[in-house]
Amino acid sequence: MGFHFAIPILALSSAVAASQDAFQSKCVQFGNQINLPHVSVNFAEYVPGGTNLSLSDNAPSCNAQNGAYQNVTADLCRITMAVETSNSSQITLEAWFPREYNGRFLSTGNGGLSGCIQYYDLDYASQFGFATVGANNGHNGTSGKPFYHHPEVLKDFAYRSLHTGVVVGKELTKQFYDEGFNKSYYLGCSTGGRQGWKSIQRYPSDFDGVVAGAPAINFSNLISWSARFYSILGSNTSDTYLTPDEWSLVHDEILRQCDTLDGAKDGIIEDPDLCRPILQTLICAADAKQTSSCLSSAQVHAAEQAFSPLYGTNGDLLYPRMQPGSEILASWIMYNGEPFPFSLDWFRYVVYDDPSWSGNFTVKDAAAALAQNPYNIQTWEGDIRPFQKTGGKILHYHGMQDELISSEDSKLYYSHVAEAMGQSPSELDDFYRFFPISGMSHCANGDGASAIGQGTQTYASSDPESNVLMAMVKWVEEGVAPETVRGAKLSAGPGSQAEYWRKHCRWPRRNFFKGPGNYTDESAWQCI
Ligand SMILES: *[C@@H]1O[C@H](CO)[C@@H](O)[C@H](O)[C@H]1NC(C)=O
Ligand SMILES: *[C@@H]1O[C@H](CO)[C@@H](O)[C@H](O)[C@H]1NC(C)=O
Ligand SMILES: *[C@@H]1O[C@H](CO)[C@@H](O)[C@H](O)[C@H]1NC(C)=O
Ligand SMILES: *[C@@H]1O[C@H](CO)[C@@H](O)[C@H](O)[C@H]1NC(C)=O
Ligand SMILES: *[C@@H]1O[C@H](CO)[C@@H](O)[C@H](O)[C@H]1NC(C)=O
Ligand SMILES: *[C@@H]1O[C@H](CO)[C@@H](O)[C@H](O)[C@H]1NC(C)=O
Ligand SMILES: *[C@@H]1O[C@H](CO)[C@@H](O)[C@H](O)[C@H]1NC(C)=O
Ligand SMILES: *[C@@H]1O[C@H](CO)[C@@H](O)[C@H](O)[C@H]1NC(C)=O
Ligand SMILES: *[C@@H]1O[C@H](CO)[C@@H](O)[C@H](O)[C@H]1NC(C)=O
Repeated sequence: MGFHFAIPILALSSAVAASQDAFQSKCVQFGNQINLPHVSVNFAEYVPGGTNLSLSDNAPSCNAQNGAYQNVTADLCRITMAVETSNSSQITLEAWFPREYNGRFLSTGNGGLSGCIQYYDLDYASQFGFATVGANNGHNGTSGKPFYHHPEVLKDFAYRSLHTGVVVGKELTKQFYDEGFNKSYYLGCSTGGRQGWKSIQRYPSDFDGVVAGAPAINFSNLISWSARFYSILGSNTSDTYLTPDEWSLVHDEILRQCDTLDGAKDGIIEDPDLCRPILQTLICAADAKQTSSCLSSAQVHAAEQAFSPLYGTNGDLLYPRMQPGSEILASWIMYNGEPFPFSLDWFRYVVYDDPSWSGNFTVKDAAAALAQNPYNIQTWEGDIRPFQKTGGKILHYHGMQDELISSEDSKLYYSHVAEAMGQSPSELDDFYRFFPISGMSHCANGDGASAIGQGTQTYASSDPESNVLMAMVKWVEEGVAPETVRGAKLSAGPGSQAEYWRKHCRWPRRNFFKGPGNYTDESAWQCI
């Protein structure tokens, strides 16, 4: 093969051009050849890197939420399919196979009650070379209405869509790339976090590495907990309602009481467990002239209720409290004087089969939702030894400023796993690590160093130390587990410069500012 050295540069570059064409035609041919049970190809197309992809076939409500266009970073082969999951259900599945392939398979997940392929996650993983798949979770659109009288669609949502996409996606990866793949990964947050855990619990051989964020686990109780805020706070004309400005007062008071518990006055509560705010300090004095910087007793009482756990009819803990610190973000969605839409849809179309259910939640509704637990959507199995035995690894993270899913539930789940398996944290560390991320809201953003590389929104570095996906690859393939997860505080949102970095500790360690210097100095912090 020595003559290769003699090939002039010109010939070499035309050989590269020819191989690019080969990838392109391979893509289209491949789409025509796919012959798998229950799979019908919609189309296969070559998408060059730099394309602004129009998602015109996508459900309008998904596009309204996520945008009708997706930047595609890598050159890739895009294959879209329908996969039947029963005689009355199907998923829409996309496979994005990059030209520059890293030999790894990856599945993405979903969010909320949706029905939306997360194109931004397909782009994120494929740009690193993963053969990436994403499905619509069994229905189209952001609403829960497709579950109404359609148990098979609900079953897809509870567990079957992700698994089906993985089975088909792995087979296609093997057929598309001569070299097949060696390792398989999962990346998801929120409902996607629950899907990751469901896979670990139910299909322990599907993934070698799972990155699961802010999981919507103990799902029925989560739905009830989020339904409850409307009952506590009322509509925006109720005397128990707080406006966003009033929640901002509450936030300032919480920071006054809790910000420095971690040693740093930086506007971020490292561990909200330590924060038990006393809100009566906000009650307006009887002779107060202006009441814009204080609250009525009814409001303070309601705010306290909002920070209390949800207990069942028999007094059992159903779901932990909202962690303090997230109230400004929550004021626009959880505390906005309207029933929380996902909870409303779940009770209407799943629990009660009653599209007119009002949203006036009581704890009896929580009992009904939990008793139903369709297809074990709870996702609360604590014994995950089958996954451990396969050698699988889990990186679980949760924002400590999450306004939609309380981070305290992730801590409860961690304890549940430890107890169900009889393993201490130092034993669990071999395969399961949980990282609370201070200053991160729901899956991204927030006031702190939340850019940990779980997706395009939180991308600041591809160094495994500062990127949870790359950290997982290193753990699975080199056996080097992440000690900390390093996050960037982005100066102006996704894609902007890092203002500072902070290393987040793995549970049950806690971050403490030991100084000297500024809180922006990552070496001034210590995991204790
Ligand atoms: C993609 O194209 C659409 C329609 O032309 C345009 O509105 C949008 O700004 C484009 N997005 C990017 C990122 O270029
Ligand atoms: C969802 O939308 C896709 C187009 O993106 C369509 O092919 C599919 O049939 C739809 N699925 C359902 C269940 O309506
Ligand atoms: C899409 O790509 C364009 C051009 O590379 C870039 O300017 C823009 O910020 C990207 N948009 C998103 C949403 O990533
Ligand atoms: C669809 O599947 C269900 C459950 O497997 C079965 O009971 C039903 O008869 C099937 N219906 C049709 C039309 O094939
Ligand atoms: C799988 O691993 C083997 C051994 O390390 C390596 O030779 C091969 O190239 C890998 N395959 C892929 C698809 O990366
Ligand atoms: C209160 O909520 C209603 C809808 O329920 C809305 O029309 C109105 O604008 C809201 N008022 C304020 C002050 O936000
Ligand atoms: C979560 O769900 C299970 C039942 O699926 C229940 O036994 C457990 O107590 C729940 N509790 C909490 C607080 O998460
Ligand atoms: C909600 O239910 C409670 C208790 O059943 C009742 O007192 C209240 O009037 C109801 N509120 C609305 C808005 O329906
Ligand atoms: C720490 O750095 C921030 C941001 O640069 C600055 O606003 C703040 O004043 C500094 N604090 C101290 C104690 O030096």
